[in-house]
Amino acid sequence: MSKNTENNHSLLLKQLSALLSNETDLLANAANLAAFLYHNLDQVNWLGFYFQQGDELVLGPFHGQPACTRLKIGQGVCGTAFAKQSTELVEDVHAFAGHVVCDAASESECVVPFYTAHINGVLDVDSPIKNRFTAADKAFFEAVVEIFKQSIHQHV
Ligand code: SME
Repeated sequence: MSKNTENNHSLLLKQLSALLSNETDLLANAANLAAFLYHNLDQVNWLGFYFQQGDELVLGPFHGQPACTRLKIGQGVCGTAFAKQSTELVEDVHAFAGHVVCDAASESECVVPFYTAHINGVLDVDSPIKNRFTAADKAFFEAVVEIFKQSIHQHV
């Protein structure tokens, strides 16, 4: 089965819920989420978190090549999604003004911001091909972030 079908999205969400369900620690669940999705999605070269610290987003758990450690809120794809409080789906990162290059292999990107009582940040997913992410992928990553938020709900 292709790793990108709707059925697969549904299965991955169930598996992710199970993976995160017995833990509330923020870093533990962020790390397992990144590892799980990176290894279960096609055409993804980087997948991980940035967490807000003041006016910056600071690198969190991820899979992929080493990345930029600090991004300014309001700049780049991540900083724009966070400032606008809405998902950024970028078909071609080279056409996005202010795109911050971390891994030169990245061609398209989907960034979902989140805001909780404990932590704010973004889930960033990069692909080495253009137009990798569809509206269905956007909805999938937004559902992923909801599962993550629920899992750390009791984290203090
Ligand atoms: N391209 C991102 C920076 C983060 S890396 O892709 C991991 C951006 O423009 O915000």
